[in-house]
Amino acid sequence: MLTTAPRGTRDILPDEVARWHYLEDVIRAHCRLFGYGEIRLPLFEHTELFQRGVGETTDIVEKEMYTFTDRGGRSLTLRPEATASTVRAYLEHNLPAGPQPAKFYYLGPMFRYDRPQAGRYRQFSQFGVEAIGSADPTLDAEVILLALDFYAKLGLKDLTVELNSIGCPVCRTEYRQALVGYLRAHEKELCTSCLDRLERNPLRVLDCKEEGCRTVTQGAPGLAEYLCPDCREHFRLVQECLKSVGARYVLNPALVRGLDYYTKTVFEITWAGLGAQTALCGGGRYDGLVEECGGPPTPGVGFAMGLERLLLALEQAGIELPGKEAPEVFVAAVTPEENPAAFNLVTKLRRAGLAAEKDYLQRSLRAQLKQANRQGARETVIVGGEEAARGNVSLRNMVTGTQEEVPVRELVAVLKGRLGK
Ligand code: HAM
Repeated sequence: MLTTAPRGTRDILPDEVARWHYLEDVIRAHCRLFGYGEIRLPLFEHTELFQRGVGETTDIVEKEMYTFTDRGGRSLTLRPEATASTVRAYLEHNLPAGPQPAKFYYLGPMFRYDRPQAGRYRQFSQFGVEAIGSADPTLDAEVILLALDFYAKLGLKDLTVELNSIGCPVCRTEYRQALVGYLRAHEKELCTSCLDRLERNPLRVLDCKEEGCRTVTQGAPGLAEYLCPDCREHFRLVQECLKSVGARYVLNPALVRGLDYYTKTVFEITWAGLGAQTALCGGGRYDGLVEECGGPPTPGVGFAMGLERLLLALEQAGIELPGKEAPEVFVAAVTPEENPAAFNLVTKLRRAGLAAEKDYLQRSLRAQLKQANRQGARETVIVGGEEAARGNVSLRNMVTGTQEEVPVRELVAVLKGRLGK
């Protein structure tokens, strides 16, 4: 037990972390283009925020939250997602009084007691954006495009955007009645979970993956016919904007999403190569959430994408991201006696801004050169021998194998020249 991480969690070792850094750098630069500022939110919140925000009858709240009581008797929950927290922060810091819409992005771990499998973890990382304070359909199109352009920047192709509108409380109430009527007539064919959903959250039946339920829902009334004129026009404009910038999408009337806060536009971006966990990104509009969290009626829209899944997809698509950076210089000691001198020199090089590494196992010179090669150092400085008596070191180019004697006091300048710094 002490030597394995908890189920559904994973370590990210330095080699892999380099890829995360790369992704994070692309994300930051990309969000800057779209005018989204980073928000850093707590990893845990009052449980009630998710109960109210995400919804009591969702799988996340019913089955997947890591909830605990702290020493002060408060019920807290490790965040399963960050939309509710962003809305909470928006209200807590009185941001409705500032410029609208307020546009945020976040990066970080989320926690869900999910059944772990490839691409599904109990601790996973999301990159998400939230734009709060505008009902403008161009904003729906903007967040979808932000995600699509981001994938394009990474070179990931063949993505599918599935799009739907689930209307507003007005049209959804009417639709709900029609749907419940239809589902009641097919009760015998539904799975037990859906029988329960039928009462509590009938729209979720449309999302069920069970064979029997899928057959039933294929014939169910579609929400599209029930949209009120306002929702219909909003959906039309979102599509018009997407088309105008060449973003392709497919309409999926069965797409309802697993969180309760959505209104109007919902979408998912999938990549077929991922197998069972095809959803790379999910999001939509949530015009009632700010009010639900105790604020003034304020619309919002956003998405979140799983970064582990994205890395899996990039790997499967054969897109290589940069690995761990190699040292620029390796400092080798001719004998263990020069180890302190090597330490002194490696320090000087680092202070001069060079990525320098040394041996710590008192290896032979030959083994140190091998080590320098293995680590990918471009230059090796050899300290000791007759050169040392002359105040010099040997400098070996690890690519060509050529070696020359350099005075120690000129070493930094020579190295910077060779490394093009
Ligand atoms: P979500 O669909 O629950 O939406 O999650 C978004 C993405 O997070 C998924 O598409 C998937 O890539 C990733 N994800 C979810 N669960 C796991 C897991 N157990 N392991 C690995 N990756 C996972 C939300 O979280 C909403 N807050 C999105 C949003 C933002 N809507 C509006 N604004």
